[in-house]
Amino acid sequence: MTLNAPASPRIDPTVDRARLRSFEWRSKGLTSALVPTMGALHEGHLALVRAAAKRADTVVVSIFVNPTQFGPAEDFSSYPRDHAGDLAKLAELGVDAVFMPSTEEMYPEGFATTVSLEGPALGLEADFRPTHFQGVATVVAKLLLATQPDIAIFGEKDYQQLLVIRRMVTDLGIPVAIEGLPTVREPDGLALSSRNAYLSEAERATAPLLQATLRAVAGAVLAGDDPATALATARDTLAAGGFAVDYVELRNADTLAPVADPACEPLRLLAAATLGRTRLIDNIAV
Ligand code: PAF
Repeated sequence: MTLNAPASPRIDPTVDRARLRSFEWRSKGLTSALVPTMGALHEGHLALVRAAAKRADTVVVSIFVNPTQFGPAEDFSSYPRDHAGDLAKLAELGVDAVFMPSTEEMYPEGFATTVSLEGPALGLEADFRPTHFQGVATVVAKLLLATQPDIAIFGEKDYQQLLVIRRMVTDLGIPVAIEGLPTVREPDGLALSSRNAYLSEAERATAPLLQATLRAVAGAVLAGDDPATALATARDTLAAGGFAVDYVELRNADTLAPVADPACEPLRLLAAATLGRTRLIDNIAV
């Protein structure tokens, strides 16, 4: 990938075309990196694309709003879509190819197979979005099989998703390296997300409280305070700020299992809470 190259990326609308392109690159000895997205690209996605360009000879971005990872009452139909804007941003970055399949291409008549998950896919998001990770894992497996990259890059903003995908790739023996990159944030700490577009002005002003509260818990845990007390305080702080809290949890950063001994384990704080009609998630290392 050539940064600032003016050429538009090649668009692959079908699995066959994506596979052919992957074969062409491989036969020329070129490595490739995939950045999977659902479009409505923001600076967080673009940071992943820039990182991809440093790690492989060619970069492919997938844009597919995956219906199977949305619950029946969720925002699939209203999820932001901006294909023209996305393609302009990717052209600006010199991305080589964009895999942009239709729903029928990804889920043809008679589609009946899904990836079944345990381990890091249990609890947290899954308690509130029970079919979400099955949809994510199935579509990511299909995106990897279609584009056949050497490396695929995901943001740590969806930390549980990242661990689910790592586990799946290991367990199914999919030959790709998975890399997670740090969350990109607004100057006030709010994690970038396509769903931030749903926030009203007043909600946008309140939203950084989510990250600030996680930071306060991390500080308390590092100072040796009782994690359960710090987590309860965090839930109260968010509720007082107007959030409807789904969870604020301290977990083992590698497995997402509950923490037995905070002094001896890698730790991750994860939270999900709704502000108005916008469900926000965030996480930080401790
Ligand atoms: O993180 C996302 O944008 C989506 O969950 C992904 C990985 C592109 C699968 O649809």
